[in-house]
Amino acid sequence: MANQDKIKELIDKRVQARLGGGEKRIEAQHQKGKFTARERIDMLLDEGSFEEFDMFVTHRCTNFGLEKTKFLGDGVVTGHGTIDGRVVYLFSQDFTVFGGSLSETFAQKICKVMDMAMKVGAPVIGINDSGGARIQEGVTSLAGYAEIFERNILASGVIPQISAIFGPCAGGAVYSPALTDFVLMSDKSSYMFVTGPKVVKTVTGEDISTEDLGGATIHATKSGVSHFLCEDEKEGILIIRKLLSYLPQNNLEEPPITPCSDPIDRLEDSLNEIIPENPNHPYDMKDVIYTIVDSQEFLEVHRNYAKNIIVGFAKFNGVPTGIIANQPNYLAGVLDIEASRKAARFVRFCDAFNIQILTLVDVPGFLPGSGQEYGGIIIHGAKLMFAYGEATVPKITITLRKSYGGAHDVMSCKQLRGDLNYAWPTAEIAVMGASGAIEVLEGRKLAELTDPEERAKFVDEKVTEYKDKFANPYQAAAYGYIDDIIEPRNSRFRIIRGFESLATKKLSNPPKKHCNIPL
Ligand code: HXC
Repeated sequence: MANQDKIKELIDKRVQARLGGGEKRIEAQHQKGKFTARERIDMLLDEGSFEEFDMFVTHRCTNFGLEKTKFLGDGVVTGHGTIDGRVVYLFSQDFTVFGGSLSETFAQKICKVMDMAMKVGAPVIGINDSGGARIQEGVTSLAGYAEIFERNILASGVIPQISAIFGPCAGGAVYSPALTDFVLMSDKSSYMFVTGPKVVKTVTGEDISTEDLGGATIHATKSGVSHFLCEDEKEGILIIRKLLSYLPQNNLEEPPITPCSDPIDRLEDSLNEIIPENPNHPYDMKDVIYTIVDSQEFLEVHRNYAKNIIVGFAKFNGVPTGIIANQPNYLAGVLDIEASRKAARFVRFCDAFNIQILTLVDVPGFLPGSGQEYGGIIIHGAKLMFAYGEATVPKITITLRKSYGGAHDVMSCKQLRGDLNYAWPTAEIAVMGASGAIEVLEGRKLAELTDPEERAKFVDEKVTEYKDKFANPYQAAAYGYIDDIIEPRNSRFRIIRGFESLATKKLSNPPKKHCNIPL
């Protein structure tokens, strides 16, 4: 073959590979309101930055006459490119080829990009849209999944791993995304479950739709499997780009610092007014967060799950920061099983990737009751305590209002490695709330008081006495547990100056194989 013909052959093959499963299947994909694997990559990466690997890979399966049907690339597009000029590795499953199902060679392509990402220390993004294990291949596809899982596990805490679910993701395939740091799901066009509705019906008799069993809303609100519920794929892509802007390339690098145009000493008078006079009245902690961060930008993670605690990323003077904050506006900001798990995972992510942590506290305590106890609130609450207690990144804690009991300790208190612990003058730091404390301390006296008026007067007096003593930050400050009591409107400046002072913090944990966090 003449050289020019060889070049033409290459170009033809590239055109063919880029067509995936062909025009008809691409059209079918668009009909479902979905983009193709390649369109998604084009939207995600900086223009013209994509370098593809393994475009000419085909499967090696001869079962069921499959050798007669081969597609260049074998159903997954892999390679690397840049996002805001920083390198990322990625794979994008192509539903137009065998329903994006995973073969031995498909898995090898994914493993190659994951290995490359680990070698160079760059994030991996996986776009999932697949019918699961390629049925014709049998066990080789199961082995292929396991190869990917192992890489997900070893990469955990070394490079950021992000999974977008833009279509089906079922069976064991769900475990790769579950092993990654962040999962995004597109609304109404994606689902994740271990077993689909048909098998569920056969095994348990439960009649349930795909959407109700494992749709994006379910995983964003009930299971917590998904961190971001995206209106559509375009929004999902924007979230991935935004998320990466807060993250370092790997665990040995610092997160990217950007210029900040928001004055660091901006005083916010509204914060002096935000805490209601009545301690039982709520307020929106997000108003506090948006007010103190750079340019009112906050990327909330798990927005729809365990809303009694808020977690997400923002910047202070251009430095990426993880924020964990109780939300008095939802269940009074109480710590329960879901909130503890959500926050613990986030704290651990930040610590693994050198992201400083700001904790805003207004917590009445742990949610009491048999439901929580039977569900293991002790273990789940311990997770959050463990996460804070082992984290070595700079940590600033501000107590805005309530900080009671075990929840006080858990929420990044001084003795669990809080580096700078501040309180607003409205803070109440105590073993428990006044009413509960009076019930315990004065139980005998209360039993003797049969006249309701006399009893109410007595309780009032005792509550006032208790509040005067404990419903303030001064007792904790007297012991040095609180480093300073700050004016609310000055919080932004104190946080920025605090983190600046902690930038060179060095702290490490004792050598060990790994910790045994309560799971
Ligand atoms: C081979 C598959 C496939 C698969 C889909 N296709 N899934 N080929 N192996 N797993 C092919 C179809 O034959 C079809 O080919 C094309 O992909 C599109 O599929 P459709 O069914 O036409 O699309 P749609 O109606 O949108 O339905 C999508 C779907 C359905 C819901 C994903 O295809 C489906 O139920 N697939 C099987 C899912 C499954 O049970 N997978 C195994 C899970 S167990 P043509 O040529 O007609 O276009 C598993 C174990 C992993 O994954 C364990 C890891 C530890």
